[in-house]
Amino acid sequence: MIDFISNEELMLKVDSVLEAHGYSEFKLLSILLQVQEIIPGNFIPEEISKYISKRISVPLSKTYEVITFFEALSTHPKGKILIQICKSPVCTVNKYKDVLEPIENELGISVGETSEDGLFTLQYTSCFGACDISPAIRINDEVHGNLTKDKIKDIINSYRRKFQ
Ligand code: FES
Repeated sequence: MIDFISNEELMLKVDSVLEAHGYSEFKLLSILLQVQEIIPGNFIPEEISKYISKRISVPLSKTYEVITFFEALSTHPKGKILIQICKSPVCTVNKYKDVLEPIENELGISVGETSEDGLFTLQYTSCFGACDISPAIRINDEVHGNLTKDKIKDIINSYRRKFQ
């Protein structure tokens, strides 16, 4: 584990996020989202949670509550490629489970896990507005819809090529 607190450059960035939000406890979610973006692995390590809580005078339990409530936040490192599969009602009716299994098989992981090469993280998400093309997944910020089992391998391989 990297000693984040001794990583001066990173801490300066965290401080600038805190400053931009006026060290306001009411901006906790926005602070966490922005801080997560600047941390390699796209997550909020324990040391950083403690640091943020201290600087904006919020109990650590409250910070963890926010991190665990919002799907976009994580206490564990995530892959460079985040695959989010929607399990909201329309995607459920349109059998998202039929595409989930081939995704898990292709990546060799289950929902909530990161692939061994650190490239992919697979997560559930709620509706992101692509109901008309469900079942749908979002990969980083790109939406893929009308999914079938056969499309999955090609989609995942296209990201492998981009990020490897
Ligand atoms: S229900 Fe899945 S994108 Fe809307």
